[in-house]
Amino acid sequence: MSAVIAATAAFIEEKFQAEGSGHDWPHIRRVWQVARALAAQTPGTDLEVAELAALLHDIADWKFHGGDYEAGPRAARAWLASQHVPEATIARVEQVIREVSFKGLGVETPVSSPEAAVVQDADRLDAIGAIGIGRAFAYGGHKGRPMHDPATPPVSHADFEQYKQSTAPTLNHFYEKLLHLKDRLTTPAARRLAEERHRFMEQFVAQFLREWASEDAAQLPGATFTA
Ligand code: ADP
Ligand code: NI
Repeated sequence: MSAVIAATAAFIEEKFQAEGSGHDWPHIRRVWQVARALAAQTPGTDLEVAELAALLHDIADWKFHGGDYEAGPRAARAWLASQHVPEATIARVEQVIREVSFKGLGVETPVSSPEAAVVQDADRLDAIGAIGIGRAFAYGGHKGRPMHDPATPPVSHADFEQYKQSTAPTLNHFYEKLLHLKDRLTTPAARRLAEERHRFMEQFVAQFLREWASEDAAQLPGATFTA
């Protein structure tokens, strides 16, 4: 591992130790590891750029910086400059960070490099499956949202502004983002990994809705309520 990658990992680990919104160090460590694994399967990926971008991709999320899109790239630049990383590398890392984030179902988020593809895919893989379910409810709890409200149906956000302003119950997020992520991956390796995670999430949502309606209890002899 290069010295700058080790220093960046240590810096981010320290900074994100006690994060409660889903952007904790374990998330970033997984994205870093998975991005490295995807990079090994993706010809032409500059590993140093991919690793630095994976480590720095959530350094200053727009959601927690007044919707400022450039907060992340700017904070990443400041850190990398402090480590005397060459300008060309800094610019490439900044561009990956700009491209990573999901911005609503109706919004295209194309990637312009193999580094952006592997980091975006790794970040999306961490939003699905068992970990993705856990992170969604952790985020919803952090925001004080209900888990589910049948009176608030999911919507497809046509633009980033709408997506940013959503305060919907957490289960809606599955329909508004998570169940679509498997079809919004770029690298074949990530698409393969997504299959099992996606299946697990589908099963979870189906079971959640059955339990929400107490369907099992409704089957008991003498149950006096209807689902
Ligand atoms: P990404 O890392 O893909 O950019 P975000 O930063 O948007 O993801 O979100 C971090 C985590 O919080 C993800 O697991 C994401 O699914 C979850 N999350 C984001 N918005 C919501 C929401 N409205 N409801 C529930 N979970 C959310
Ligand atoms: Ni992330």
